[in-house]
This record gives sequence, structure tokens and C-alpha cells, in this order.
Amino acid sequence: MIDFPEERFPSTSNRGDRPPTLRGVTEADLPELLRVDREAFPEDPYPPFILRQLIEIHGDRILVLDDGNGLLGYVLFVNASDGSVSWIMSLAVIPHQRGQGLGRRLMVEVLRRLRTEGVRQVRLTVEPTSAAAITLYGSLGFSSEEGVVRDYFGPGEHRLLMTLAL
Ligand SMILES: CC(C)(COP(=O)(O)OP(=O)(O)OC[C@H]1O[C@@H](n2cnc3c(N)ncnc32)[C@H](O)[C@@H]1OP(=O)(O)O)[C@@H](O)C(=O)NCCC(=O)NCCS
Repeated sequence: MIDFPEERFPSTSNRGDRPPTLRGVTEADLPELLRVDREAFPEDPYPPFILRQLIEIHGDRILVLDDGNGLLGYVLFVNASDGSVSWIMSLAVIPHQRGQGLGRRLMVEVLRRLRTEGVRQVRLTVEPTSAAAITLYGSLGFSSEEGVVRDYFGPGEHRLLMTLAL
């Protein structure tokens, strides 16, 4: 289990409705993480084996929001090998929980941790039509000098590249 002492997660026997807790992912979260990812990215979810291995390899880089009944969202962020650049690989909030500040909460916590680590730049890609995500990232200081890169993820899969200097 990955331990985040500042926001300990209560044992499952204590689960129930409560304000969402932000905590590190655990292996037991895999089914919920898959569900959240499918709900947020219905056309292009991560395959189970990828999420399973991401938990294994980058488990300290996946934060989840848990209301005691299940996961409401997650963020995955991974540092480049020299440690100065970090990428937001995925940010997701399930549809019926959006617009309540959960996405912002996940991102603010990620940026806080990366600043503490001395990361100098945060990068991400976003679908050019994802107004909510682009507005959220912009409000956090991300900008998009590079603009939209055509076919970034293959034919027709254009992405807006955004960066934030920390
Ligand atoms: C992007 C996403 C994570 C935002 O989560 P959320 O919990 O709804 O976001 P928040 O409630 O924290 O809103 C944060 C900011 O986003 C912007 N925003 C949120 N919803 C918006 C909408 N429908 N239209 C425009 N801007 C919006 C606002 O700037 C908002 O700040 P404000 O409330 O202070 O005005 C969520 O919409 C989602 O999971 N989308 C599908 C997956 C995705 O596109 N992920 C990002 C790319 S990897």
C-alpha cells in the first residue's frame, strides 16, 4: 500500500458517505480506477493491463478522490527521467461529480507536490475540444505556446500541448 501520511485513508470497514478524501491509490482501487477512467474517457480508456502496471510502477503518482462509496476522480502524473519536467498523463472526474471543484483539487495537490520536489516545468496534452479541461488548466497558469499538434496521437488525434513553469 502506498502511504500518504498527511491524508490517511480509513480502513474499508469505516467506509460510508462522506466528503471526498484525496489519497494515494492502492492496488485494491484497480476496478474503481478502471470504472472512473471509462466514464471519463469512454472512447479511449486505458486498457486494464496498463492501469494495473501504472499502479505498480507509478503508484505514488496516482491520486484518487474517494467518498467512501467509490472513486470520483483521479490524476496520474509522471516525471521525465531528469526529474525537472513532469507530465500530467490523465485527469478525470466522473460526469455527475463535475463542476464542484474536484478536478481543480486534484491538480492543485499535484502542483503542490511537484513544487516541493523541485520540478521546474509541468506539461500535458489535451483534446482541443475539451473546453472544461483547457479552462481549468489555463486558470492554473498553463499556457499553450506550442498550440495544437496535429495527429499527435495518430491520424486525426490532434492535441493541444500546454505547459506551466513552476
Ligand atoms: C476536466 C475535468 C477533470 C474537470 O473536472 P471538474 O471537477 O468538473 O472541474 P472543477 O469543478 O474543479 O472546475 C475547475 C475549473 O474548470 C473549468 N470548468 C469546469 N467545468 C467547465 C465547463 N463545463 N466549461 C468550461 N470550464 C469549465 C472552470 O475554470 C473551473 O473553475 P471555476 O469553477 O473556478 O470556474 C472533467 O471535466 C473531466 O474529467 N473531463 C473528462 C476528462 C478530461 O477531459 N480530462 C482532462 C484531459 S486529460
